[in-house]
Amino acid sequence: MDRIRIRGGKPLSGRIPIGGAKNATLPLMAAGLLSEGPLTLENAPDLADITTMRHLLVQHGMQVTQDKAERRLVLSGAADNLEAPYDLVRKMRASVLVLGPLVARFGEARVSLPGGCAIGTRPVDLHIKGLEQMGAVFDLEGGYMHAKAPQGLRGARIIFPQVSVGATENLLMAATLAEGTTELVNAAREPEIGDLAMCLMRMGARIEGIGTDRLVVEGVKRLGAATHPIIPDRIEAGTYACAAAITGGTVLLEGARMVDLGAVVRTLRECGVDVAEETAGLRITRSNGLRGADVMTEPFPGFATDMQAQFMALMCVAEGASMITETIFENRFMHVPELTRMGARIKYHGQSAIVRGVPKLSGAPVMATDLRASVSLVLAGLAAQGETIVNRVYHLDRGYEAIERKLSAVGAEIERI
Ligand code: UD1
Repeated sequence: MDRIRIRGGKPLSGRIPIGGAKNATLPLMAAGLLSEGPLTLENAPDLADITTMRHLLVQHGMQVTQDKAERRLVLSGAADNLEAPYDLVRKMRASVLVLGPLVARFGEARVSLPGGCAIGTRPVDLHIKGLEQMGAVFDLEGGYMHAKAPQGLRGARIIFPQVSVGATENLLMAATLAEGTTELVNAAREPEIGDLAMCLMRMGARIEGIGTDRLVVEGVKRLGAATHPIIPDRIEAGTYACAAAITGGTVLLEGARMVDLGAVVRTLRECGVDVAEETAGLRITRSNGLRGADVMTEPFPGFATDMQAQFMALMCVAEGASMITETIFENRFMHVPELTRMGARIKYHGQSAIVRGVPKLSGAPVMATDLRASVSLVLAGLAAQGETIVNRVYHLDRGYEAIERKLSAVGAEIERI
């Protein structure tokens, strides 16, 4: 099994190209199920999760081609198999995003329930309730959700009791082909949702309120072909911003956009990191010491839960104490014991962790159980004295393309072994 070896202590300097957003690409691929296509997605990242989604769509009967050199995905056709099997859904929870599109276009879907995952229980009740309000009838049997809407879906006013990225995406996609108007209230506002809505509009959908927490969708009979450029990955950008900050370097994040990273940028500045927007992207520079700062994760435009672990790694070597509160997932401090093994001083209770900065971390063999926790250990390794080995690299490969190449190109001593 691959591992990542890091010798820490090298300040990073140079340019890191930021790829297309994983969390935008996955729903955009699911949107391919809504029309005969072709749907051409440009700036597509080459990641393990994208391959899993490709396999899922192909087994549904769609044609999916990926040109890695051109960074392009082309999706077309129709689903003749309406089942999303346990083996794929268990591997990647975002597989449930096929539910809305399948029911909307084909009137039926059988999708495995994803079950819990490393960071929490993560139910899908909001996806189900919303589709029920739109007329779908659900049967839960054998670990599968079996949804039927033989007469098609109809518009509804759906008020989310809690903000959910996936449920907003599933229902937004379903609403594009429903009869009449759907209103999604308290919808998630993550940039990936805006990107999905823009792509659906290019396919012929009628959507208002993009970028707000109230989306209004006027259903149409069918959607058509479109070409859509995927937005840059704000979490990849935020992660490499932390890499520059933790090593005390200066890095240009090519293609990264300030609009997507507001809360992260504000927090980095509070810690003493310079962030400047340039034509080519965001420049991150840290020339002085790091100061601790408090963060609480929240739905967008708040501080992203997907940046919590990386920020915690940074706070491990900042001056003073930082309080990190996780409000989105109930079990997202799995990186704490591993960071502690590298010399970090962290205590957590319930949803909050106190990090007391130390002058130096020391390298160690570590492993993590999810994507962002793993990358927080890479960041800690970049700053640590001595050698860090990060095990279970497959977590990193789900969401970071060529991480060791991107980091070694800016001066890190990092390799895959
Ligand atoms: C998406 C992101 C993930 C990110 C998360 C929060 C993708 C592929 N993944 O995940 O990287 O960490 O948003 O920004 O885009 N919930 C329910 N019932 C539901 C749905 C969600 O209770 O039916 C709860 C979840 O358990 C969680 C919270 O709502 O506590 C937010 O989850 P949600 O926004 O749905 O996350 P995902 O879409 O799964």
